[in-house]
Amino acid sequence: MAIRKITEYPAEVLGQVGKPVTEFDDALAELSADMFETMYEAEGVGLAAPQIGLNMRLFVMDCDGIKLIAANPEIVSTEGEQSGQEGCLSVGKVPAVVVRPMKARLKAQDVKGEWFERDAEGYAARAFMHETDHCNGKLFIDHLPKLRRDMVVKRFKKEKSWK
Ligand code: NI
Repeated sequence: MAIRKITEYPAEVLGQVGKPVTEFDDALAELSADMFETMYEAEGVGLAAPQIGLNMRLFVMDCDGIKLIAANPEIVSTEGEQSGQEGCLSVGKVPAVVVRPMKARLKAQDVKGEWFERDAEGYAARAFMHETDHCNGKLFIDHLPKLRRDMVVKRFKKEKSWK
């Protein structure tokens, strides 16, 4: 296992629609293990392949008791609404309030290629949607009004310049 470098905004790969995962082999299992290690090291609850520079539809998460690997993820249904703080390892964890559905059903393939569906609500549902968005080239700041989006980006750049 190895810790990968986290790709940060505004890297191009973060805005690209990921390519489908087609090979469910040892390399995918190793990549997923690296992604978990990278995510834990960064103290995140989810990490998608574009965040380590790979244009692939793949994410890992460990959030609110839900730990999984999702290849070719889709949100197949949602319900309700929640408003809560969200951040992203690719945007320096600068937080912002994002309105999203309260519940979400994820459909994806596991590391062996088996399709599964999983329901979540609250924070874990938020992670399903945030990480699936990454696979579609979308960041959480894309859900914000322009002014708040600009504020998050500004703060991220400022904090980065201190490091
Ligand atoms: Ni993120």
